Amino acid sequence: MDEKIFVCRCEEVTLEEVRRYIQMGFTTFSELKRLLRIGMGPCQGRGCREIVLRELSKAKGVSISQLSPGTFRPPSKPVLTGLLCKTEPNQRS
Ligand code: FES
Repeated sequence: MDEKIFVCRCEEVTLEEVRRYIQMGFTTFSELKRLLRIGMGPCQGRGCREIVLRELSKAKGVSISQLSPGTFRPPSKPVLTGLLCKTEPNQRS
């Protein structure tokens, strides 16, 4: 059943994969991120970070607040590229 539950929909990582890697000894969000690409999809972990941290919390027997949530990298919110390079009409040469 766990192999059919997607924890990270962006990178198509299942609950079974997350639990297997935790059992192998990878017990930080950053390690799982590097190995499984969790949190590296278009949503930058907004869809999976809490779920993975909950699994790590259960496996390690600690509260989620004691775990490192990993590194957040910009853009934390999707931005249209056109907005970043928008110029005023009189600035064009
Ligand atoms: S659901 Fe994991 S990066 Fe989007």
